[in-house]
Amino acid sequence: MPSNRASGPCTDSFPAQSDRGPHPRPDPHRRNAFRYSHRSGRTAPSSVGMKVLVTGGGGFIGSNLAAALVERGDDVRVLDNFSTGNRVNLARLPEAEVVEGELRSYERVHAATRGVEVVFHQGALPSVPRSVQDPLTTGAVNVEGTLNVLLAARDAGVRRVVFASSSSVYGNSGMPPRVETDPADPISPYGVSKLAAERYCVSFSRVYELETVALRYFNVFGPNQDPTSQYSAVIPRFVTAIARGLPVSVYGDGGQRRDFTYVQNVVEANLLAAASERANGAVINVATGRPTSVNELADVIGKLLDRQAERVYHPERAGDVRDSWAGVELAHELLGWSPAVDLEAGIELAVESYLHRSSPA
Ligand SMILES: NC(=O)c1ccc[n+]([C@@H]2O[C@H](COP(=O)([O-])OP(=O)(O)OC[C@H]3O[C@@H](n4cnc5c(N)ncnc54)[C@H](O)[C@@H]3O)[C@@H](O)[C@H]2O)c1
Repeated sequence: MPSNRASGPCTDSFPAQSDRGPHPRPDPHRRNAFRYSHRSGRTAPSSVGMKVLVTGGGGFIGSNLAAALVERGDDVRVLDNFSTGNRVNLARLPEAEVVEGELRSYERVHAATRGVEVVFHQGALPSVPRSVQDPLTTGAVNVEGTLNVLLAARDAGVRRVVFASSSSVYGNSGMPPRVETDPADPISPYGVSKLAAERYCVSFSRVYELETVALRYFNVFGPNQDPTSQYSAVIPRFVTAIARGLPVSVYGDGGQRRDFTYVQNVVEANLLAAASERANGAVINVATGRPTSVNELADVIGKLLDRQAERVYHPERAGDVRDSWAGVELAHELLGWSPAVDLEAGIELAVESYLHRSSPA
């Protein structure tokens, strides 16, 4: 198996703000110095064949995105510390340059953004339960890490940062479907961290010559998603349990509804968000617009696998929202995007990957 291009070992420290030194200004002769300015409204950005950075590219969504970028001919660099991601996810992408490094290190992030036109910022600690257990680390990676990405992108003359935000910013406020104009009222420390990071993105697009787009993903699933971690999402956990004839664990009564979104839909939204001139400074839902309860999900998976989906019910988990599904009109309007793969087709596409990853070596 060919190895990825590596960019040296991780030698990160966590420098204080004062260690950052002067910010280098973008070189006007650089390839991406033609970047589109929303203030002047001139010059369309290039959208294919770019140098791009995917933070968290060793993770579930980041690796699917990196694969799509490589496939369309972009020059892809990945920044990841592989804390929740896995090098195996990049094994089929020898073209991607891998920088092992820490989002909490400005220097490391800045080095990774050099020469880059678009940053797809997927790196984060993505779990609600983890954030309830350890809000400090979640905040440091998700908020300070995003600030480092934005600062480094600004300083390196990056054209646009596309940020992976989350439906968790909505909390339980109002009635679904959630639309972008609804008030944000996150419940979990994770949701708070994503909201803070998202607001930094919007702020940077207003006060600096850096374009940003924040995409609020709703319950993403698909290949390269780890079914074995204690923080695993519900679909990989259900598939692996039901396939083995084991009962699935349901937290609460199972009536809570979610908008389960196949990863390819999210990848396509990212590609469009990198190029859409109208999306600069926007916050956009990425979901299917279709609610499915956790109990219904177990039945759908049982039917697809031709197995009985037995449940064991546990108390509700702290930080979880009751119902969460999205209105996706804004994504259609600003990105020309709509979800191409539905829940059943997505699960069929993902099953093999889950079963392969969960089987003993
Ligand atoms: N999966 C979902 O349903 C979902 C929903 C909403 C939002 N999101 C967001 O999408 C993004 C990707 O999520 P995912 O599900 O692929 O999770 P993931 O855990 O598979 O990917 C996150 C990646 O970030 C890397 N990372 C974590 N901390 C880091 C650090 N300090 N320095 C460098 N790299 C670090 C991990 O190693 C991993 O590769 C995250 O920002 C997450 O908050 C995911």
